[in-house]
Amino acid sequence: MVSGSGARSAGDVRALAASAWSFRWKVEREAEVRFETLAGRLEALGEPPHLVNLTRRAAADERRHATHCARLAAELGQPVPERAPPPPAKVAPAGLAEEDAVTYELVAACCVTESVSVAVLTTLLPAARDPSLHAVLRELAEDEVAHARLGWAHLAVAAAQGRTAFLGPLLPAMLRGSVDDDLLLPVEPDREDEALLALGVLPHATKRDLFVRALEQVVLPGLEASGVDTADGRDWLATRRAFPKVAPGRTTDQKT
Ligand SMILES: [Fe+2]
Ligand SMILES: [Fe+2]
Repeated sequence: MVSGSGARSAGDVRALAASAWSFRWKVEREAEVRFETLAGRLEALGEPPHLVNLTRRAAADERRHATHCARLAAELGQPVPERAPPPPAKVAPAGLAEEDAVTYELVAACCVTESVSVAVLTTLLPAARDPSLHAVLRELAEDEVAHARLGWAHLAVAAAQGRTAFLGPLLPAMLRGSVDDDLLLPVEPDREDEALLALGVLPHATKRDLFVRALEQVVLPGLEASGVDTADGRDWLATRRAFPKVAPGRTTDQKT
């Protein structure tokens, strides 16, 4: 059982953390469906069987992650809905050839999103003193590393076929689509509370900084090494570097 600490707004902090874990449950269930769908599409394209198997395994991992997230959300006072969330929409733009659309989906889901998740989870690990929470974060981190590698492995296959350059001009849309709606916006001060860390949730500004650092240090260099011109992606990121710190009164849902 996870428990918060600190006298000031301990209930509010728990409520925010519950909301974050509930949101993670939804994201994990969506990821499960996305990977299951991608496994079938990879198989149909004749992708190497080990990548298809890794994608199917990723779907099973995400299902297991969702179970952990649901338990933590319930322990913090916000049980998740009984019904699964609706299946996620395809993120690749219309008009791409099927193999390029699959590459886009895998790069967005794995190279970008999973890489950022790894950065988030490894930052949370040292702050999680509750053994059960620590074990969940470690399990998620280890699996998300494998999911990120899956994306890079597929990208290497696409690069060997000369099919990665198309991603360059699409990076701004991909990066924009990979962030929560409010990640690059100021949020209410409660969401910057350091007490969230003990409940497995990053203060908002820390999460935003990690996103930027993961892009700059992992994602964009990895894409460049795979033949993607990242100039448009870097321009997109540069225009969003001057983040305001805090704005009062926002009431959006707490995100991961
Ligand atoms: Fe996951
Ligand atoms: Fe994952």
